[in-house]
Amino acid sequence: MPRASRLRSSEAIELVRRGWDRAASFYRPPGAAYHDAFGHTRSEYAAWLDVLRWEVEPHAPVLELGCGSGVPAGEWLAGRFDLTGVDVSKVQVDLARRRLRSSRILHASMTDVAFRPDSFAAVVALYSIIHVPLTAQPRLLKAMYRWLRPGGLFLAVLGEGAYTGVGRNWLGSGASMYWSHADRRTYARWLARIGFVLLRRSFLPEGRAGHALFLARKPFDRSSTPGPAGLRR
Ligand SMILES: C[S@@+](CC[C@H](N)C(=O)[O-])C[C@H]1O[C@@H](n2cnc3c(N)ncnc32)[C@H](O)[C@@H]1O
Repeated sequence: MPRASRLRSSEAIELVRRGWDRAASFYRPPGAAYHDAFGHTRSEYAAWLDVLRWEVEPHAPVLELGCGSGVPAGEWLAGRFDLTGVDVSKVQVDLARRRLRSSRILHASMTDVAFRPDSFAAVVALYSIIHVPLTAQPRLLKAMYRWLRPGGLFLAVLGEGAYTGVGRNWLGSGASMYWSHADRRTYARWLARIGFVLLRRSFLPEGRAGHALFLARKPFDRSSTPGPAGLRR
């Protein structure tokens, strides 16, 4: 098994791509009661996403990075917004394209895509940036900031603690998998330095560990004042 510290960025992304191609079928929802690899249910996902229902206009353009097979977040987003999904795994992309027929699903690494500035009302990335090599993440977060419209929201599951490593037999698929993330304080600092206003950060417990859910806004302008839903504008 490759040592994470020895991997070049492109090698790490390739390992993730191959890993998810193999693991995709192990991650699919078992019937209606969807459970993901971290044990979260469809209704928990809906609760995380719910803020977009109030803060983003129906049919507005929304980007999901690491959309996976299109459930549960993709389905939720596609039902309300004009969704563009991006995923590095072709197997995941094919599943998402079958599920989300009216959405544009791009097969690419999120580190390689480019959109015009101010393109999206929200960028969503649940458990996906944590597979991107840490050295590439500040640049990626800056790009997302550019792609967001003023006032746009960034919703992401990121690291609670710092970790970079490779695991074997991901989800019982036999494939190796790579993760790389900073801790929640580092992410908060990076986001603030880029210009985001951090609206909310919550801990998502998963067994003995967990991840951090971040909600941040690209300011409408430089002066940020509280908005109607109690969220800072
Ligand atoms: C844990 S799954 C999460 C899927 C979905 N966001 C969810 O929460 O159910 C991670 C997804 O991110 C994708 N991914 C990982 N690294 C990526 C990258 N560099 N570019 C695009 N997608 C990536 C994987 O292929 C996989 O489908």
